[in-house]
Amino acid sequence: MEILEKSVLMDTGGTRVTKIVVRVPLVAPKAEPGQFVVVMVEESGERIPLTVVDTDKQKGTITLIFQELGFTTKLLGKLNTGDDIYAIAGPLGHAMEIKKYGKVILVGGGVGIAEIYPVARALKNVGNHVTTILGARAKNLLILEQELKSVSDELHVATDDGSYGKKGFTTDILKELLTNDSKPSAYSLIYAVGPIPMMAKVSLTSKPYGVKTLVSLNALMVDGTGMCGCCRVTVNKKVQFSCIDGPEFDGNLVNWEELQNRSKIYCKKEDHICRLEKT
Ligand code: FES
Repeated sequence: MEILEKSVLMDTGGTRVTKIVVRVPLVAPKAEPGQFVVVMVEESGERIPLTVVDTDKQKGTITLIFQELGFTTKLLGKLNTGDDIYAIAGPLGHAMEIKKYGKVILVGGGVGIAEIYPVARALKNVGNHVTTILGARAKNLLILEQELKSVSDELHVATDDGSYGKKGFTTDILKELLTNDSKPSAYSLIYAVGPIPMMAKVSLTSKPYGVKTLVSLNALMVDGTGMCGCCRVTVNKKVQFSCIDGPEFDGNLVNWEELQNRSKIYCKKEDHICRLEKT
């Protein structure tokens, strides 16, 4: 699987977000918004799930965006144009149902912004009114603002430190939008991707307004095909597997506490990830 293009979207010294375009002719024609692939960088390496951010079905390429945080994403970040990735399996997971909902709000936090982009574009293409809320810890950590602007009717930005947009969190803006709208139910759908605490808070914020809220869960995965049980989450008191039943679920039915605890399983081995996720 040859890497045809590589660019660094954001590099702060400690945090790097990288975009690659990879030739995967058997995957690209079938991948739809919301789906992901499982990547093995080398033969003896672990498998990691990455959302398909874009496809060129004619050229047989997919675009992946990842934050170089853990061992394997750092390994992937070391590859350059012309290098080969050992294996890519997919597309996996259910695709987002793209249809006319009316007014939708998309919320992206951190590298989750890359994951809402294909969904925003597809929803806009079928005539939805798209409001996008982006969140980052600081201005220099914000990615894909212009790309999201081009497929949104409204775009809002929140930064934790106030260095850009509104000082605060994506949920502050979400609450304002839901409260200020004369008819809160005018919004038909909220779709959120980002850190687990952000998705949990988006779900909590939207609940009193009764707006359907979907989240795309980034649970730990191994095989990505429903066999290992690693990605299990509890949704509506039932065990579900993120890889085959999701990755999209109703945010108000997810057991967030359990998911957060499971996501910390590797904290001792990859301590830097957990430290970053707390901020
Ligand atoms: S990753 Fe193994 S069951 Fe989902």
